[in-house]
Amino acid sequence: MRIGRVEWRGIMPPLFLAPMEDVSDAAFRRLCREMGADAVVTEFISSEGLIRQIEKSWQKARIWDEERPVAIQIFGGDISSMREAARLIERVRPDWLDINYGCPVSKVVCKGAGAGILRDIDRMEHLTREIVQSTALPVTVKTRLGWDASSIRIMEVAHRLQAVGIAALTVHARTRADGYAGDARWEWIGRLKSDPNLHIPIIGNGDIDSPQRAWEFYHAYRPDGMMIGRAAIGYPWIFREIKHYFLTGQLLPPPSLEERIAMIDKHLSYALRLLPESPQKVVIELRKHYAGYFKGLPYAKKLRLSLMEARTPDELRRSLAALPTLSQKEAVPS
Ligand SMILES: Cc1cc2nc3c(=O)[nH]c(=O)nc-3n(C[C@H](O)[C@H](O)[C@H](O)COP(=O)(O)O)c2cc1C
Repeated sequence: MRIGRVEWRGIMPPLFLAPMEDVSDAAFRRLCREMGADAVVTEFISSEGLIRQIEKSWQKARIWDEERPVAIQIFGGDISSMREAARLIERVRPDWLDINYGCPVSKVVCKGAGAGILRDIDRMEHLTREIVQSTALPVTVKTRLGWDASSIRIMEVAHRLQAVGIAALTVHARTRADGYAGDARWEWIGRLKSDPNLHIPIIGNGDIDSPQRAWEFYHAYRPDGMMIGRAAIGYPWIFREIKHYFLTGQLLPPPSLEERIAMIDKHLSYALRLLPESPQKVVIELRKHYAGYFKGLPYAKKLRLSLMEARTPDELRRSLAALPTLSQKEAVPS
């Protein structure tokens, strides 16, 4: 499969790290690339923020060669702002530009941005055409199946967006009304893939949380690529595990406590080096990954809580160094 000049050849579909607000930052993207993600996407960035030169928006758009291939995702409801943002973003040279038509959060939706545009497919087509025409970058779209179960229009959306020239379509196989409830309806990915008139790559997204799930979805619905979000939070090993399973049919053993400690330490170092936040903020932001980092371990809660108290990088490193002893202590029956 190919997006612009980036091509993935291989016996398995490329794996993408999903755009996730406050999660898919430069540090985490780099970790995921090192652990086997074939491409990464930034968290969504406000087009208004970019054109108004808001520092925070441009900080989110900072990318490094080490994480390539990397896409920048933008959102917004105003056509001229989206066009201008698409043009401005060329200066940071992402491998492609992704448009968010899937965010279900009300403050985004009510401005006609994110999933809000699922209620107006004419506008979606128009906005996409304008963006494709205003940038030299390849443009991809990430969206949901439709607004709600009675208005699933993903087949029509795919055709209309293909016609205006998008390079690939990522589909989170739920509606806006679903939020995150119920199972992702991957059968729609299968329908898109079996439509002989659709030629753009279809990236399937939603609920891939294990190598077996990825295998099952791939073999049932044949997406060109697969995107992983929540299962990667605090668990960048998911990419390596899926690849190993596709290539060998075997499950890798889960990472040891030592590997997990080393990964948190690396995550901290990357975050301190690559993110604009203060060291204290970096330590606080890392907390959202701990549930993933200790997933499946005995005494996971105890281990996680022992890191929660750290307020500075030095404190966090000391708490990390104490984890093996803490784990052994818990293992000894009192
Ligand atoms: C914390 C969080 C933040 C998210 N932020 C974004 C975002 O910025 N842009 C976007 O297109 N989707 C965003 N999503 C949706 C994910 O990209 C993905 O579509 C969704 O989580 C389903 O995939 P999963 O089941 O693998 O998690 C976010 C999801 C989560 C959990």
